[in-house]
Amino acid sequence: MMLLYEGKAKRVFRTEAEDVYRIEYKDEVTAGNGEKHDFLTGKGRLNNLISSDIFQYMATHGIDSHFIERISETEQLVRSVEIIPIEVVVRNFASGSIVKRLGLEPYQPMTPPLVEFYYKQDALNDPILTDAHVEMLGLATAEEIDALKTAALKINAVLREMMEKMELSLIDFKIEFGRDKGGTIVLADEISPDTCRIVDMKTKENFDKDVYRNNTGSLLDTYNEFYNKMEAIK
Ligand code: C5P
Repeated sequence: MMLLYEGKAKRVFRTEAEDVYRIEYKDEVTAGNGEKHDFLTGKGRLNNLISSDIFQYMATHGIDSHFIERISETEQLVRSVEIIPIEVVVRNFASGSIVKRLGLEPYQPMTPPLVEFYYKQDALNDPILTDAHVEMLGLATAEEIDALKTAALKINAVLREMMEKMELSLIDFKIEFGRDKGGTIVLADEISPDTCRIVDMKTKENFDKDVYRNNTGSLLDTYNEFYNKMEAIK
């Protein structure tokens, strides 16, 4: 089937059904916009299992997404949408880029949670966008911007609660949305330790890609432990 798009961690294929795509998770990991890059056998499987489980959990908690079903260890079927090139980041505690940009204390609480938009453009290094930039670039209307923020906060509430059950704390995460043929905005892409910052409530140890970014341990062992914790709350 035709390859539609290849990203750093996934390939998207058309299927015989016009409204269905197949996503294949790759055994690759990158950080710093591709500056750091490695092949890790088994990573695609873990991301696919975790992302499928998270989308399923979301569906049972009132949040619709592009996810249809997992069809193998490394593949899932999703509804065909056109990705809106905005990375929507939600922050519950300060970490990563915002600590550097605004000189905040690491893990300073964000009350209420902060929603930010970044332009999904590798060549520009994904710059932060104001609402006015989003409208000026024609990426979303004012009404859609409000809908994206509302959806992001609702997703945050469900994800936080899920992670609390796992005795983990959700620091921040990135999500992407797409538009279906009718123009309806749908949660898309992936939610996994690649796209979230998650720490153990007690030990503060990371359960996310920071392990790889900062060379503090085995990414595969970390993601495997995260997956086991998810299985345990099912
Ligand atoms: O780098 P920054 O601190 O802004 O990242 C915020 C959150 O968004 C982190 O959880 C990070 O993993 C996620 N993110 C991502 N993909 C990007 C940029 C950030 O998943 N391109």
